[in-house]
Amino acid sequence: MSAGYVVMELPIYLDHAASTPVAPEVLQAMLPFFTDSPWNAAAIYAGGKEATDAVETARQQVADLIGADADEVFFTSGGTESDNWALKAARMGPTQGRSHILISAIEHAAVIESAEALARAGWDVERVPVGADGCVEPAEVDMRISSRTALVSVMTANNEVGTLQAVEAIADVCRSKRVLFHTDAVQAAAQVPLDVQKLGADMVTISAHKLYGPKGVGALYIRRGTLVGRWMDGGSHERGLRAGTVNVPGVVGIGAACSLLHMRRNEDMSRVAALRDRLVSGVLDRVPECRLSAAESPRLPNFAHFCFRGVEGEAILIGLDAAGIYASAGAACSSRSVTTSHVLRAMGMSDEWARGAVRLTLGRSTTEAQVDYVVDVLAEVVADLRR
Ligand SMILES: Cc1ncc(COP(=O)(O)O)c(C=O)c1O
Repeated sequence: MSAGYVVMELPIYLDHAASTPVAPEVLQAMLPFFTDSPWNAAAIYAGGKEATDAVETARQQVADLIGADADEVFFTSGGTESDNWALKAARMGPTQGRSHILISAIEHAAVIESAEALARAGWDVERVPVGADGCVEPAEVDMRISSRTALVSVMTANNEVGTLQAVEAIADVCRSKRVLFHTDAVQAAAQVPLDVQKLGADMVTISAHKLYGPKGVGALYIRRGTLVGRWMDGGSHERGLRAGTVNVPGVVGIGAACSLLHMRRNEDMSRVAALRDRLVSGVLDRVPECRLSAAESPRLPNFAHFCFRGVEGEAILIGLDAAGIYASAGAACSSRSVTTSHVLRAMGMSDEWARGAVRLTLGRSTTEAQVDYVVDVLAEVVADLRR
């Protein structure tokens, strides 16, 4: 890389969809629960009450962000666990002979593999296709629901290309047919308003480390009255549904992160969207044979997913890394896999384009100068690889 580039503080982090840094305010809120107040929330002495109060404050903070009541929020170890619980709850609750599940073709592995586990247990799992635009048509869900359908799971926003799904309309379809609806809002929660009342989902997954909170903690919203089975045995934690000593610092962290997000999301959204637009137009102007994925679809404001024809995405990422830019090819969990993404395949993209996929996801610390540097480097890396 030419020496002219090295004026930037590196690395430049453009992989916020993989994880976000813990906000300083969140870390401050968590620290006492590692040090001065390490109490178990189940203990009966005063310290236990202090920990319980902190957990319940966090529950209210999460509830406030998503328009829920606090008793509808259950803490988990993250998005993966919440997705597992939501899908497998269909098996654990009273299913009245229903054994059919619908998931979209572009779900995260946590949903796909949970559904595959249900399939091994004899459930009928069906995938709802998406169009080339990366979106699920509510009518496609509607026509697949039968009297045997127990649950539909369609993500609020996709974690590779960032497409926002018509989840309100899909929830309406499910409600009218008395079928449970779950949505994985892990990527959406940090970027766009999420109101479970308006949304009408029965279960919603969120994860702290995608919204400037700590890794290893998440939540599952379960609408009051939804019949779900006990998820983890071993005690009466989380109102008897999810046993295990509560991760008090982590839970305080997700609460603080949600509270901070509640205050600043609109500001974050418009700032990041403007930077994303600058990045997109810069890349499309400078790099030939490059496409913005799902360009015409509603997308998360911080996502820019490109495909470069005839170039390996992984080679581009290595070139970016060498210039101090951290990005990824798609889902964090599959970033070391060499197969093309199931999301791009579901969108009907040819291998020739899909192999050259690069996902750039912006965040609170992204600046205009970083964006301009990334455009310069990306143009040079792709040109070098094509030479
Ligand atoms: C859409 C989506 N669902 C679920 C997960 C898993 O969340 P966690 O990392 O908290 O287990 C992720 C993480 O990449 C995600 O993007």
